[in-house]
Amino acid sequence: MRAGVTEEEYVLNLYWGARLAFFSDISAASMPPDRSSQDVSLALAPEEYPAFGGLRFGELAAKITFADQTRDADLRFHDAEIGEQDGLPALRILLQDAVYPLQVALLYQVDVANDVIIRSACFTNQGADPIVLERVFSAVWHLPRQVVPRRLTTLGGHWAGESRLQQQQQVVTGTTLLESRKGVTGSHAYPWFALDTQANEQQGEVYFGTLAWSGNWALRIATTITGATAIGGGIHEHDFAWTLAAQTSFTTPDFVAGFTLDGMNGVRRRLHRYVREQVLPQKQASQPRPVLYNSWEATTFDVTEEGQRLLAERAAGLGVELFVVDDGWFPGRVHDRAGLGDWRVDPQKFPHGLRPLIERVKALGMQFGLWVEPEMVNADSDLYRLHPDWIYHFPQRPRSEARNQLVLNVGRQDVQAYLLTVLDQLLTENAIDFIKWDMNRPLAEPGWPEYVAQGGDAREIWVRHTQGVYTILDALRARHPELSIESCSSGGGRADLGVLRRTDQVWTSDNTHPDARLFIQEGISHILPGRVMGAWVTDMPHDRMVNEIPVQYRFHVAMMGALGIGGHLLHWSDEDLAEATRWIAVYKSIRHLVQDGDQYWLLSPTASKGDLAAVTSVAPDGSEAVLFAFRRSNPFWEPLPFLRLQGLQPATQYRVRELGNASVPEIILSGAALMGRGLELPLRHGSYASCLLHIRAEA
Ligand code: GLA
Repeated sequence: MRAGVTEEEYVLNLYWGARLAFFSDISAASMPPDRSSQDVSLALAPEEYPAFGGLRFGELAAKITFADQTRDADLRFHDAEIGEQDGLPALRILLQDAVYPLQVALLYQVDVANDVIIRSACFTNQGADPIVLERVFSAVWHLPRQVVPRRLTTLGGHWAGESRLQQQQQVVTGTTLLESRKGVTGSHAYPWFALDTQANEQQGEVYFGTLAWSGNWALRIATTITGATAIGGGIHEHDFAWTLAAQTSFTTPDFVAGFTLDGMNGVRRRLHRYVREQVLPQKQASQPRPVLYNSWEATTFDVTEEGQRLLAERAAGLGVELFVVDDGWFPGRVHDRAGLGDWRVDPQKFPHGLRPLIERVKALGMQFGLWVEPEMVNADSDLYRLHPDWIYHFPQRPRSEARNQLVLNVGRQDVQAYLLTVLDQLLTENAIDFIKWDMNRPLAEPGWPEYVAQGGDAREIWVRHTQGVYTILDALRARHPELSIESCSSGGGRADLGVLRRTDQVWTSDNTHPDARLFIQEGISHILPGRVMGAWVTDMPHDRMVNEIPVQYRFHVAMMGALGIGGHLLHWSDEDLAEATRWIAVYKSIRHLVQDGDQYWLLSPTASKGDLAAVTSVAPDGSEAVLFAFRRSNPFWEPLPFLRLQGLQPATQYRVRELGNASVPEIILSGAALMGRGLELPLRHGSYASCLLHIRAEA
């Protein structure tokens, strides 16, 4: 039986959902009959990779124009093989156009342990004439028809308010479009979705997926009146075209998707494990993420050798392990109107180069990190004066600036070579362990006159830009295997599985206000595991006369991810410094759980309008866990309900103790009691109460 291939050689989806027992559980595929002359067979068939052509009117994966201007594709099954790709079992289905020399290889990798499928498509022009690709989604996924409406969860936001949960309680007929047209993943929308049927955090059926791509992307979630849903996604077709020259191939990014019966926490667990095991650079992923200090909020552009050294000395005293100098270290960078592009050390701010500072940082026992924004240039920079043609532009249009900067055409080979040379030199001449790679404005006026003059199609820039960024990141990592990289795009604007293949953490948001952070962290926890989610303790909020949020509360919020400090340490009181030192030590004792444990959200800040949050991170074998709990305010002085934990072993006895507060007595309870009866949280009354509990199996 060739399950999934019809008599006509169309490849159909037969099923996606909970695991089945036998191969015979899926029936052979056949085309559905026409329902009417308006609802014909091809339009109703759940094709694995429907390309624009014939009588297809549903979600499309591809749109192609052949050299003779035929805008109709007819992809039929050609062959299939099961093998391995990057250590995972993989199915490759070859589709062949019925007439034209075009082959499309559909790749399905299966991460069996983590229940996710990774799909992509590779187009090969086997002929002599060019073929133009106008839509090349990575996949179309099909969810079965059902009567009970599904709920759609997505993430939305903006700068300083990223990744907030959005829920459409009832998905009805129509199409939801999630997208970025900014040339970067974006913080207004995230390439992630979940569709559940009456699920909650703890249990229930959820389909989920995310795109591994850091450029323009689209996710189209299309539901029919019968309750069938198709989800197409990949590189955005907006202003996109790719000329596939004779005998060349084009491969789409990955679209990772999965199914769980374990509710939204089951989604997190699967994606987090997949990201840690299959996506992140493995050398760094096997090491704890260091506690970092970043000087941005403390000194902004006022960077000096002396000022940074004083901060580094304070940071080392707290137990910080990585000291990062942010923006402002290169010539002209006393404000955001100059300097981007000239990636050399400012001789005025650092008369002896970075070396004395780096040596001091290393002598203090810390690693050294530096901020860069390689894709950008200020008009007021030597690079732009030398190469005004290196930015995206149309000859007769203005060159619009945002944050006073312009975007380098990173699709160009000469620009890539230049950036790689200067960054490599920076890393070779200085003992830099970490770079924060920032990207602070969208792409606009996406012209490339030189390419057009050579007969090229400048609509390729949306893809070539991202590919160029990936190429540089990959080359830097290959040349500097110990280097760690943080992905930042004005905060969490480039947080996707594509960039995570070549970076180790993400700067989640410039908003470090703990109230905002709980929402942002809840949302992004659907994509990023703890080790990737950068979170700092800073001096925010600045908007209060008295900073009334306790140091403990601010630390607990930031300790849920990869902990950093961003406050002005020279202004911190001795008391605050001592408390910070204590929490950093506590963090180091639990970071194996926070960074690499399974994360269960137990109380949702979104559901409680920011008043409550509780999260536990559990060792994969259930032997140890930490629990963070927060209550912003309690105007009615009411006790909380018992909090029921997850992920523990029912028959194991656990010792539960509050970290950082020796006065609360330890208790011993079984996993069954902790998960069934629950815990009364030792939260004090009053505003901004938090606690951190450690739960360990008794020997
Ligand atoms: C962006 C980043 C910040 C900081 C500044 C520096 O806004 O998100 O963290 O690095 O740039 O200019």
